[in-house]
Amino acid sequence: MSVTIIIGTQWGDEGKGRVVDYFAAKATLVARYNGGDNAGHTVVAEGRKLALHLVPSGILYPENTCLIGAGTVVNPLVLLSEMQTLRELGVDVSPRHLKLAAGAHLILPTHRELDGASEKSRGQQAIGTTKRGIGPTYADKARRAGLRAGTMRDLNVFAEAVGEMVEAHNARLTQLYGLDPVPVTPIVEQLHNAAQQLRPHLVDGTTLLGETLRAGHPILCEGAQGTLLDLNFGTYPYVTSSSPIAGGALVGLGFGPKDVTRVVGVAKAYTTRVGAGPFPTELNNEIGERIRQVGGEFGVTTGRPRRCGWLDAVILRYAAQVNGLTEIALTKVDVLSGQSTLKIAVAYELDGERVEHFPAEWGAEALTRSIPIYEELPGWEEDITGARTRADLPAKVQTYIARIEAIVGVPITFIGVGPEREAMILP
Ligand code: IMP
Repeated sequence: MSVTIIIGTQWGDEGKGRVVDYFAAKATLVARYNGGDNAGHTVVAEGRKLALHLVPSGILYPENTCLIGAGTVVNPLVLLSEMQTLRELGVDVSPRHLKLAAGAHLILPTHRELDGASEKSRGQQAIGTTKRGIGPTYADKARRAGLRAGTMRDLNVFAEAVGEMVEAHNARLTQLYGLDPVPVTPIVEQLHNAAQQLRPHLVDGTTLLGETLRAGHPILCEGAQGTLLDLNFGTYPYVTSSSPIAGGALVGLGFGPKDVTRVVGVAKAYTTRVGAGPFPTELNNEIGERIRQVGGEFGVTTGRPRRCGWLDAVILRYAAQVNGLTEIALTKVDVLSGQSTLKIAVAYELDGERVEHFPAEWGAEALTRSIPIYEELPGWEEDITGARTRADLPAKVQTYIARIEAIVGVPITFIGVGPEREAMILP
């Protein structure tokens, strides 16, 4: 029996897809446990690059089962469109292969409207959300007014529930935000049609997971976003509304901590962030711009340029604790080639004191005042994209990696050295 959880250690976009791919090839069940189509991962199928937002990356392996778990929020229209794209490429998205947990909550078009309206009303304090309706859907779930995927089982009950929800959202859109109401009937018809197609995919996700566990088959839990976007432990309020951390897999899929064997934290060799909020090691200069261009740091979901900065080991130590990391996958190390000097934040200075712990609980304001204390290491000029073992790496790259392991106290088992699928040093 083995359960592997793959999580992002920073603000998302760490390159989890490639590591997920490695484990998915051996897993019997691949399950998404949090978030919705705010996530984006690029996969290559039939030589074509495609961006998946909801469907687990494991879908490209025909023998496994892919589950969109109860902790996720699902826009049925986005799911159907992703399934259609995959089907056209010959990927099996039949109910045998792709399953949707009855406990997942559904995102309606009006959740998206509310997301946009809420962001607009925040003005300067906007979160910079992906406007996919994620926050409003989790808010409806938390106030016990959500719509679960399982409702789609009875189409008449479902259509009625959708109508009522859209009416309720319209009341908020008009009264709270002064917007026009959204026509109800077309949404009900669209969703009714979607439900008809998605119904065969519905399962009791916890039962499926339990059976797989008891059979002793390997399970892969695929996290979306990253530790610092976690609703509880991220840089609140500049976070997403779910739990991307390892604990999110337990509450999002329904199993206990004793079943977890590996927790792989994916970390970029530098740091990036999309959207607003504090970012202590951000580089608003030509080094940051170079990292953005070389690393192709533009969002898969929104196309927004990502903010870039030095590696922050304070964040990685925090992620190691919050997630109980057993190992780290360090990605995009090649992007740093050509920098004469590299910096790693090892602590912060906050109110004249040295702080070793990421002060997330003190909030965005404390983080904004946190000044990174850097350790400098020599950079390297070599192209490292051909390295396939750690010994192939130039000495300075090995030093950079070993230093991160020492500061964070977690072994680095995967090293990403280039954009190609095989450009990764494996354990
Ligand atoms: P939301 O998840 O759309 O509510 O957005 C909340 C915050 O999370 C914003 O700063 C987004 O940019 C960020 N975010 C959400 N999903 C991702 C992701 O997959 N990668 C990186 N940032 C994300």
